[in-house]
Amino acid sequence: MGKVGPVEPPPFTTTRVPDLPIPVPSPPPALYPTWYAPQPASIFPNLSLPSGFIFGVATSAYQVEGATKMEGKGPTTWDWASRQPDFIQDNTTADVTDLQYYLYKEDAARVAAIGVTAHSFSISWARIFPFGVAGSPINQLGIDHYSDLIDYHWSVGVEPVVTLFHWDTPLALVAYYGGFTSPQIVDDFVKYTINIILMMIPPRYTFNEPSVYCGWVGSYPFTMADISLAPGVNSSTANYQCAYNLVKAHAGAVRAFRALNISGEIAYKNNDFIGTAWRSNSTQDAIAVERHAAFGIGLYADPIYTTGDWPDIVKETVPSDYLPRFTEEETKEIAGTADFFAIDAYASQYIAAPPNGIEACATNMSDPLWPNCNSVMLYDSNAGWAVGPSPDPASNSWLQATPQNLRGYLKELQTRWPTDKMFISEFGFDEPFENDRTEMYQITEDATTTNYFMTNLGEVLLAIHEDGIPLMGTFSWGMIDNAEWNYGLEPKFGIQHVNYSTLERTYKRAAYALCKSQHSPTITHI
Ligand code: NOJ
Repeated sequence: MGKVGPVEPPPFTTTRVPDLPIPVPSPPPALYPTWYAPQPASIFPNLSLPSGFIFGVATSAYQVEGATKMEGKGPTTWDWASRQPDFIQDNTTADVTDLQYYLYKEDAARVAAIGVTAHSFSISWARIFPFGVAGSPINQLGIDHYSDLIDYHWSVGVEPVVTLFHWDTPLALVAYYGGFTSPQIVDDFVKYTINIILMMIPPRYTFNEPSVYCGWVGSYPFTMADISLAPGVNSSTANYQCAYNLVKAHAGAVRAFRALNISGEIAYKNNDFIGTAWRSNSTQDAIAVERHAAFGIGLYADPIYTTGDWPDIVKETVPSDYLPRFTEEETKEIAGTADFFAIDAYASQYIAAPPNGIEACATNMSDPLWPNCNSVMLYDSNAGWAVGPSPDPASNSWLQATPQNLRGYLKELQTRWPTDKMFISEFGFDEPFENDRTEMYQITEDATTTNYFMTNLGEVLLAIHEDGIPLMGTFSWGMIDNAEWNYGLEPKFGIQHVNYSTLERTYKRAAYALCKSQHSPTITHI
């Protein structure tokens, strides 16, 4: 499709086979004196992770694969969007990034070597159906690629955990009918799902972070005339139409999976948090927390886990020509279409009511905070202290290290959408200023990220043992540095560094800390 323009070719185009075993250099010295901060081996010496606890890492196709135009792949919305003026903050593309498309063997073996037991990755729909639509030609090279990738993961002892859709919509579907803003997507997604199950593997997740994805579709550059929204949809209604179609696509895919009678459990990756009132004595802030929960996690989790319908707060605020209502039959088809709860638990912060009050905002569609009518606050209301350390300035609008809030956050989830099996499907941090460093000994010393993982994992242990949260595994984002969407290559979320000239990978301190926490003599599996 000519719309994308020239694509940077990869430096090589065959799958590299690593020599095994992968050498793992000796671990770094202790970060602090033991009296100051616990070493991984001494966090709660008497507590153990449950037997079979999954220690995973995560990636997604667009962010790590590169090989954008290789082996029959069709273009995706992100291949196109990454070329639109002023969209990617550092003007990079993901044309090559980590070239995991050809380096997946090395990547799987490298995480296996440090004790990781699972890799959560996504399949690029446009590699299977370059034209997106059901009934269009299937790209056998794409099937062969992912089949080999899956087999190789098993062969090195890393469980492949598949997400069907991590935001990289086939561009053809957007050009044909407006992608997820059109109800036509439902059938195409269900047929794509069935093909993956029959030809490859039962997926663990349908969608990654639906609210973030649907948040994009109504904004620049996705609303530009030359890629189009569905007829009758505009930038104000696009994200609601997307939510409606996406929930139906999820439910349709899960029902199709269940009808095949193939064993496996399926859900989707939730994101966001419930939060706590910014001013603890403010009733308005307490209501704002409920609005945040309803318009955030609740928009998807209420239909799928509990009622089959949108949260009441949402229905009371957003008219049906924005957010279509489900029929009674659809409600029945949607409720219960997830076998467990997965949360991308990055951070949990404060929530405040709008300055003019919730009522004034909720009843005024031109209020800048309508319809959610709440704001996330990254500092406290008393002295203005941050909720937690900031990440790299390149992505600091949403992320902070907030381990002290994790247990409360998980408890809130469990109260609202009870489950007997929960996963932290992603958590992670981008080390401040890492992109400015040139020396490897400085790059690998990712102290803030190490602290993020260690403190959150300590709270995971307490959440399991003290709060009874049925956490069965965690997935660290990311397995390697990668293309952070509109922020580009600058934020460094990887537990391994990637040299974008040579493509060489190097373990950072965080990788060792994670692996030592798993293998330490005191944090053993029970
Ligand atoms: C969650 C998203 O799923 C992933 O794509 C992103 O890179 C990380 N958060 C970090 O922002």
